[in-house]
Amino acid sequence: MEISQMVFWTIFLISAVVGSDESERYTTCAPEKHCVPYDLCYDGISVDGNFYPDRSRTLLDEQHCHYMEKCCNITEPLPDTRIYKYNDSMMTLQHCGSRLDLWLHLRPLGYKKREAKFAEFPWLVAIYRANGYLCSGALITPHAVLTAAHCVQNDAASDLHLVAGEWDAAVQLEPLTHQERAVADLVLHPNYTQSPSGHNIALLLLHPESPFELAPHVQVICLPPPQFIYNFSQCYVAGWRRADFNGNETLPKRSPLFVLPRDQCASKLRLAILGRRYALNDTLLCTGGDKDDFVCGDMGAIPLMCPLPGSDDRFMLAGLLARATRCDAPQLLGIYSNIKFYRRWIDHKLRERDLDIRQYML
Ligand SMILES: *[C@@H]1O[C@H](CO)[C@@H](O)[C@H](O)[C@H]1NC(C)=O
Ligand SMILES: *[C@@H]1O[C@H](CO)[C@@H](O)[C@H](O)[C@H]1NC(C)=O
Ligand SMILES: *[C@@H]1O[C@H](CO)[C@@H](O)[C@H](O)[C@H]1NC(C)=O
Ligand SMILES: *[C@@H]1O[C@H](CO)[C@@H](O)[C@H](O)[C@H]1NC(C)=O
Ligand SMILES: *[C@@H]1O[C@H](CO)[C@@H](O)[C@H](O)[C@H]1NC(C)=O
Ligand SMILES: *[C@@H]1O[C@H](CO)[C@@H](O)[C@H](O)[C@H]1NC(C)=O
Repeated sequence: MEISQMVFWTIFLISAVVGSDESERYTTCAPEKHCVPYDLCYDGISVDGNFYPDRSRTLLDEQHCHYMEKCCNITEPLPDTRIYKYNDSMMTLQHCGSRLDLWLHLRPLGYKKREAKFAEFPWLVAIYRANGYLCSGALITPHAVLTAAHCVQNDAASDLHLVAGEWDAAVQLEPLTHQERAVADLVLHPNYTQSPSGHNIALLLLHPESPFELAPHVQVICLPPPQFIYNFSQCYVAGWRRADFNGNETLPKRSPLFVLPRDQCASKLRLAILGRRYALNDTLLCTGGDKDDFVCGDMGAIPLMCPLPGSDDRFMLAGLLARATRCDAPQLLGIYSNIKFYRRWIDHKLRERDLDIRQYML
């Protein structure tokens, strides 16, 4: 089934007028120069009426400014209607799982592809409770986030809140601001078992009147239909780690992984964890890939995202981390709740509440 959703944006980010009175707001980095967000700096190029800020950094920027800022001369007020706009083609997103190359791909200093870039996975949602970050989830409609049940099982919906469009959780200097929402309804899978982990999946629903607003950095990811066959292609996991909070920068990590064929998954699970008599049904899927601190680290909840067949830049949610990743063998073994197995349950829970499920359909 092909449902085209046309989402048109008219996004005109009208950057603040930075006059000399406002320069006091910003740290001085050199005579007549201040550390300002890139978009407020004159340096850049205009192509077809679009202004692209210069994101290169000089030694001066690095010594004095945050990595999302540039050392810039803002003595002369910027033209008062300086409009930083996305043109029509950039404003049109037709499908779930799509993303825009915004030219906004900020990256931290010393970037080694271990961190996700700004808006690289625009459906990635940070889940918090009052005393801090819990785990990550994926936005499947403007009203609904999917995550692992083990992440939220001890909390009431009213204790949880969600942040979409977030990137560096330590600061608020991103070119587009994040969105924060309360959780109205927490739906654990009715057959969820903690140990051994089974049916490890939960839905977090927003208040009907305050959904997330889709934007270049806030998008929904597609869900696979129940009969979908994953083609072992290059997939990614991404999310924030609890250990990274309270530092200078708190960026989502990312790792490439691949999905193991079903028979290999069954034999590895039998050998590694679940015992000889274990018969794999489709509730779990396995991943392989290189070990790193992120995938082998503490077990929050992270989404496993795979490209759609025939497209390397449109994604579906294949899994949610269900058990601690095994990193004691030469290759890692990741164990994920298999989202396609839960597709009917998810559809049912949303339909029960009169929520539109077309957004995540292929
Ligand atoms: C900053 O801009 C003002 C106004 O254009 C100019 O007079 C001044 O020389 C510039 N200062 C530096 C350090 O470039
Ligand atoms: C919009 O921007 C894209 C990418 O920069 C460019 O390829 C396209 O030609 C632009 N379209 C219009 C109508 O300006
Ligand atoms: C939970 O398990 C029961 C018993 O096996 C089964 O009948 C029911 O369909 C399951 N619920 C879901 C949502 O899968
Ligand atoms: C799976 O991938 C292989 C090679 O990349 C390709 O030849 C094949 O057609 C794909 N199968 C499906 C069902 O997409
Ligand atoms: C945090 O920033 C301060 C000041 O820039 C720096 O001295 C310190 O080393 C940074 N800490 C970390 C963990 O990067
Ligand atoms: C799938 O397998 C697991 C583990 O053996 C079992 O707990 C679960 O009930 C099975 N589910 C279905 C729907 O067969």
